[in-house]
Amino acid sequence: MKKHKVYLDHNATTPLHPEVKKSLLMAMKVFGNPSSLHQFGRQAKALVEKARENIASFIGAHHEEIIFVGSGSEANNSVINLLYCRAGNHCRIPNSIAQKKRIITTKIEHPCILESVGCLAEAGVAVIYLEVDNYGKVNLAQLQDELAKGDVVLVSVMMANNEIGTIQDIKKIAEITRQHGALFHTDAVQAVGKIPLNVLDLGADYLSFSAHKIYGPKGVGALYIRKGAPFCPFIRGGHQERGRRAGTENTLGIIGFARAIEMRKLEMQAESKKLLLLKKKLRQGIEKNIGAVSFNGHPEDSLSGTLNVSFAGAEGESILLYLDMEGIAVSTGSACASGSLDPSHVLLATGIPQEKAHGSIRISMGRDTSVEDVDYVIAKLTKVIKRVREISSVPKAG
Ligand SMILES: Cc1ncc(COP(=O)(O)O)c(C=O)c1O
Repeated sequence: MKKHKVYLDHNATTPLHPEVKKSLLMAMKVFGNPSSLHQFGRQAKALVEKARENIASFIGAHHEEIIFVGSGSEANNSVINLLYCRAGNHCRIPNSIAQKKRIITTKIEHPCILESVGCLAEAGVAVIYLEVDNYGKVNLAQLQDELAKGDVVLVSVMMANNEIGTIQDIKKIAEITRQHGALFHTDAVQAVGKIPLNVLDLGADYLSFSAHKIYGPKGVGALYIRKGAPFCPFIRGGHQERGRRAGTENTLGIIGFARAIEMRKLEMQAESKKLLLLKKKLRQGIEKNIGAVSFNGHPEDSLSGTLNVSFAGAEGESILLYLDMEGIAVSTGSACASGSLDPSHVLLATGIPQEKAHGSIRISMGRDTSVEDVDYVIAKLTKVIKRVREISSVPKAG
């Protein structure tokens, strides 16, 4: 079998779509500052506003409800922090909201949510972390109970999990939240452009998303802010984004983002069908060829390209490195990049024991993944797991 490169880490980031590359080349000619009143500025401004309209309509929003930010992380931080804004006379958060002292999120959020609510907790805000079941679905009874206690300002629940792919019933969660008078935010970074969604249908007050997860450029994200929802800028300075996010717009990134969204309109549905078939093939191949494996995440309500699998008697990091030598890129949930080898907080929250969580990898496929890639991965993974199990100190029992 010929060795080739197989990129299966699309939940981390995606390659630029060829159409996005073309749009970036065009956009590079437009250098004006969108805030400038002369023709160079107006030209840039027109492109940014057109992009805003296209992106807004893709999620069922009005263009004024979208602000561009530097990343999905910034969008999320902006929402968590706005409710505890202490900007004195500059604060635009009504007292009725600022006085509430409790915030609800889940145990499986992305670190950019968990770390920002963690800071608020240190500052005296009560943070409630909802439990999830074995599939990673949020406990709705706990949500009801916590909301019923009152004083909740915001509920933030991610739409699709980046590690196990589980998709939450956001419409239901938003409805329960609204019934109790709290605001609702969803981190839809892994959902927008992968599954159909409409903000009006969902009933969210805030929704975060990011370009680089859907074949757009890195360093640009967007935040939907429902008309009338309270908001105070996280980044202060100029009056860009109607005074909601200071900083000269990333014109290039925004134009590329809009083109990526346009391509999602055309490709998302067929791609999702293809990925579901590939995931089934991959799962069956792993089950057939490699013993003592288990799959994580919801069997149906899951991102079509995401497969998270645990191998008994093997460490995820070793699997990742051996696969890398075969040209295959996957990821583990461990925070190994930060120097720690803690197992994934998401897997632990679903009740998986530490050891098993350590032996897990995330395979995330995308628009270029082919049947040949999947065959290649099954063959190499079978060999790699055998090798890793031979040298591993982790118990081999399933
Ligand atoms: C669910 C989720 N939220 C937020 C982020 C952060 O997005 P960005 O990389 O644009 O900051 C990610 C990125 O991995 C993610 O998967």
